[in-house]
Amino acid sequence: MDAVFDDEEQQRAREDAVTEQVVASFETSTDPRYEQVMSSLVRHLHGFIRDVRLTPGEWDAAIAFLTRAGQITDENRQEFILLSDVLGASMMTVGVNSPPRSDATESTVFGPFFVHNAPLIGLGDDIGEGMAGRPCYVHGRVTGTDGSGLAGARVEVWAADEAGFYDVQYEGHALAGRAHMFTDENGRFDFWTVQPAAYPIPYDGPVGDLLRAAERSPMRPAHIHFMVVAEGYVTLITHIFVAGDQYLDSDAVFGVKPSLITEFIEHEPGEAPRGHVVDSTWSEAVFDIVLAPER
Ligand code: BEZ
Ligand code: FE
Repeated sequence: MDAVFDDEEQQRAREDAVTEQVVASFETSTDPRYEQVMSSLVRHLHGFIRDVRLTPGEWDAAIAFLTRAGQITDENRQEFILLSDVLGASMMTVGVNSPPRSDATESTVFGPFFVHNAPLIGLGDDIGEGMAGRPCYVHGRVTGTDGSGLAGARVEVWAADEAGFYDVQYEGHALAGRAHMFTDENGRFDFWTVQPAAYPIPYDGPVGDLLRAAERSPMRPAHIHFMVVAEGYVTLITHIFVAGDQYLDSDAVFGVKPSLITEFIEHEPGEAPRGHVVDSTWSEAVFDIVLAPER
């Protein structure tokens, strides 16, 4: 019996020694932050391997998974970000970096469909032209936590159409459903677009296999992305989610926060804001945005 205990103790000591040896190998770094991050990463990774007693077959499968993720990644497809998203690592990073203020608008995942240099539009312009979907008017005000309107804040928006696709997912796409604008002297912004629909994150690669193995859905609830930048304030990356969407409780990337769920009010055809006359029903969403001051 004692011999078994001795063996277990020796085994534990051997495993501890591997971890300490690897951690020590990063102590030569001249960058203390690098050393801190790598030492913690190694301790958690080794702890995980020991916790599940990872088998050689499972290690092979993990390497094959990461290899496939690398092979499917190109300038239009980022499988590692998707992996981070479905493991909740993206939302955890958002969480640990959010200003600890309950009076500012909450942030959520950035996602892979942002495009640099989306067109500049005037307030009230329509970014939904040529897109399939019910016309949707979105407006609100950007303020600081003291309630003062922030003039000239940059509001960037992007969203999928009623089929659940972003412009960049269409063959030979033209930019649509995305733009940036600047708030007026009272911090107000507004634009027309189309009502977004729920959509699946790309699931034809290894991340899709990972979801299928857990019988998890790839769906995200309908949303519009926002990035809001104002001098002296923390940049906000967030979405508004369409209230009532069936996937609000099962977002594949864990991005939903109750404060971001927004009513998209349905209106009858006819006269609409900014001189529009709409011959179908249209919807309206109000999103007032509160930015946290930079510390
Ligand atoms: C998005 O909302 O655009 C998104 C976020 C995470 C993964 C895939 C898509
Ligand atoms: Fe999205």
